[in-house]
Amino acid sequence: MLSPNGVKKADWVSDTTAGDPRDFRIALGCFATGVTIVTTLGSDGRYVGLTVNSFSSVSMDPPLVLWSIAAKSPNLKAFQECSHFAINVLADDQTDLCKVFSTPVADKFAGASITAGEEGVPLIDGAVAQFECERFACYPGGDHEIVVGRVTRMRRSDRSPLLFCKGELRSLPAAPKLMVA
Ligand SMILES: Cc1cc2nc3c(=O)[nH]c(=O)nc-3n(C[C@H](O)[C@H](O)[C@H](O)COP(=O)(O)O)c2cc1C
Repeated sequence: MLSPNGVKKADWVSDTTAGDPRDFRIALGCFATGVTIVTTLGSDGRYVGLTVNSFSSVSMDPPLVLWSIAAKSPNLKAFQECSHFAINVLADDQTDLCKVFSTPVADKFAGASITAGEEGVPLIDGAVAQFECERFACYPGGDHEIVVGRVTRMRRSDRSPLLFCKGELRSLPAAPKLMVA
C-alpha cells in the first residue's frame, strides 16, 4: 500500500505520539540489546549492582561508554560518587543473575561468583565481557541519569551473550550471520 507521497507504508501494529509511556517502552523493546550488570563499590564498602541494557559505546579515543540509571534508584548516589565502576556483559547462561540484579533483593551478590577489579569493584565471573571504567561524567537525562565511563581495562571470552528483545531474554539463534560488519 502506498502513502500519498508514494512511499510504501509499513505494516505498523502501532503508530502513536510519545505520550503513552507503555507504548514508548514497547517500541523501545524492538531494539534488541545485550544485557549487563553494572557494578561498583559503595563508599561504605558495600557491593552495588543492577541489571542494565542501556549500555552503549560512545567514543573510541578516549574510550568511552555510557549507560543510564533511574533517578529513583537507591543506588544512584553510589554511581554518582564512585571513582570506578564495571560493565559486566552477561552470557546466555546467566539469566538467574539478570533476574536477581533487576530485583530489589537485600543481597544481590549472595549467589554471584565475583572477582575484585580496579579499586575493589566487583566483577561478575562468567561474563562474556567486562569493561572496567573510571567514572568520566554524569549528565541529567529526564527520569534517568546518564553515566559515562572511560574504559581502563577490558576482557572478553568466547561465551555467547544474553539478549533482551521485546521484553524477553533470549540467546543467539543458531542461524547464519547476515553480514559481517
Ligand atoms: C533487561 C533489563 C534491563 C534493564 N535496564 C536498566 C537500565 O538500563 N537502567 C536502569 O536504571 N534500570 C534498568 N533495569 C531495571 C533495574 O535492573 C531494576 O530496576 C533494579 O531493581 C534496579 O536496582 P536498584 O533499585 O537496586 O538500583 C533493567 C532491567 C532489566 C530486566
